[in-house]
Amino acid sequence: MEKTPSHVAIIMDGNGRWAESHGWGRVRGHREGANRVDEIVTECRRIGVRYLSLYAFSTENWNRPAHEVSMLMRLLVQYLRRMDKKLHKNQISLVTQGTTHRLPVYVQNELKRVMKLTRFDEPRMFLNLCLSYGGRQEIVDAAKAIGASVKRGELDPEAVDEATFARHLYQPGFPDPDLLIRTGGESRVSNFLLWQIAYSEIYVTPVLWPDFHTADFGEALATFQSRERRFGLTSAQILNRLSLSGPVRLS
Ligand code: IPE
Ligand code: IPE
Ligand code: MG
Repeated sequence: MEKTPSHVAIIMDGNGRWAESHGWGRVRGHREGANRVDEIVTECRRIGVRYLSLYAFSTENWNRPAHEVSMLMRLLVQYLRRMDKKLHKNQISLVTQGTTHRLPVYVQNELKRVMKLTRFDEPRMFLNLCLSYGGRQEIVDAAKAIGASVKRGELDPEAVDEATFARHLYQPGFPDPDLLIRTGGESRVSNFLLWQIAYSEIYVTPVLWPDFHTADFGEALATFQSRERRFGLTSAQILNRLSLSGPVRLS
């Protein structure tokens, strides 16, 4: 049986270029991009992806022209108002990751409302919007939280290991992404999930985000399924483990 990735992370890039290629303003690309979010969320829920992390706004994106930033904030709120019932109906819990206290208060309030509405004891899927997110900032914040625990005498610095560190990240309950997709063709990670993508399979497609439909997602998935994840082991070790105990996992 083909394996469905448990956690898919997507760098949704190319909205501006898509709009410009049609002779339109960049904001129109962001608006069309929001429709693809709906489509890809629906597909992930259908095929049984448990965690979907979407890079929607980076810490560096704050430096874009003020007009574009404020339009992105308004589009985010429009998206949430449009999608809240559908998320609820499909038992998809909305969560966020990033320095969301930097977002305008009206955006924070809308996020809180939809997160509350979509809180389930046993969600079928998590939709994790990475907003005002930076991987380096997340690592710095984890280091600060660990330092504070040490200072309070709750943690022995000698006992800090990778698992301790991972517990202090923004979404400690999430497994690492199995598949990282970047649309828009750039072969870079742009400060996304730096800690978590250590062993993620990376798929870069030239398709711009507003053109990235279910079929394109299917291609990414097929590529993922054709790859052998070795986690530093040899191919023979992996085959041996697969025959003994199912898919190998980094724990
Ligand atoms: C991605 O599209 C969306 C955000 C970064 C908010 P871009 O706006 O970066 O589009 P391009 O890369 O300029 O085409
Ligand atoms: C990455 O895209 C951030 C998001 C998709 C939200 P950018 O367009 O900001 O990345 P760079 O500037 O090309 O690296
Ligand atoms: Mg871009």
